Amino acid sequence: LMPPVSQCYNLLDFEDIARQTMKSTAWAYYSSGADDEITLRENHAAYHRIWFRPRVLVDVDQIDLSTTMLGCKSSVPFYITATALGKLGNPEGEVVLTRAGHRENVIQMIPTLASCSFDEIVDAKQGDQVQWLQLYVNKDREITKRIVQHAEKRGCKALWITVDAPQLGRREKDMRSKYDEQAAQVQSDEGTVDRSQGAARAISSFIDPSLSWKDIPWFQSITKMPIVLKGIQRAEDAIKAVEYGVDAILLSNHGGRQLDFAKPSIEVLVEVMAALKQHDYQDKIEVFIDGGVRRGTDIIKALCLGAKGVGIGRPFLYAMSTYGETGVVRAIQLLKDELEMNMRLIGATKINELNPSFVDVSSVSAH
Ligand code: FNR
Repeated sequence: LMPPVSQCYNLLDFEDIARQTMKSTAWAYYSSGADDEITLRENHAAYHRIWFRPRVLVDVDQIDLSTTMLGCKSSVPFYITATALGKLGNPEGEVVLTRAGHRENVIQMIPTLASCSFDEIVDAKQGDQVQWLQLYVNKDREITKRIVQHAEKRGCKALWITVDAPQLGRREKDMRSKYDEQAAQVQSDEGTVDRSQGAARAISSFIDPSLSWKDIPWFQSITKMPIVLKGIQRAEDAIKAVEYGVDAILLSNHGGRQLDFAKPSIEVLVEVMAALKQHDYQDKIEVFIDGGVRRGTDIIKALCLGAKGVGIGRPFLYAMSTYGETGVVRAIQLLKDELEMNMRLIGATKINELNPSFVDVSSVSAH
């Protein structure tokens, strides 16, 4: 039996209810990580190794959570990230996230492998609502070019190229569970698929494993959208991204679904910001982070350490799968409440006041 949504007091509550109520195939696809799921676990656990250094006697009467990411205004420094196959969890699919995003003024990233068609998701947008596109690069670059230029024409404000998935990771929970044929249908140009490999691998055979740095100038030539590399995992690649002139990077391990034992993204952030500073590149690129973000305090820690914004995946999928649009709105509001309260408690009133002095990362690493 489902408790009323008002009895969800944090994002983890949605996950508990989803585990108990979702169809097992959908739960397996959404919740799984690669191999032994160590990165999946540590993405969130790593936040528990960072402590606050609050300052007191600051006037914190008024808190402003609004910010700008890639030149786009947002009510909060987090966004709904791209996750494939929305209809596995909710028969309406990704447009549920679009509507909730509109109600709460939160940006949505549209996945290449959405269950709804790209145009349905853009048509569901209201007013000046911001959407970005996540791109899996097709072996056939003409298809990729068409997708990118169509997205730009339809008003997408940024292109996030996924670079951590030359091959989809082994998610064994997903492989064991049955592939849900109807919901998993996606509007893309993939060929025949091997369904024994689970939902994820079955639909991803079109992705080009030969994608490399050499392709970056081509993307820059086909679009004016800002380009973000989604899935950077070491300082050297962050530096390279600056040198290739991309606009932003997302430090991410795909929510622990790709390489198991990839370092938790919040720890990669510490490494990357140190390297950018050393090269005097801090102002040349926006740095985003995702993976395991479940609490307002997680978001604040990431921003203190230099992130411009934070992506959140599974919690919104679980909220959408259990309570639909109402659930996603509730999840966003809970995060807003947590953010506001914890900003007040650390002694910061605006997003741009957050800085490394507010956190102690000495138990993370010796960087
Ligand atoms: C994803 N993610 C993902 N990323 C991407 O670039 N293209 C995709 O199609 C998908 N699909 C997808 C499906 C599901 C079910 C999940 C959980 C994740 C990765 C996603 O964008 C993001 O990096 C992680 O979800 C962030 O971690 P959390 O917030 O889920 O812990």
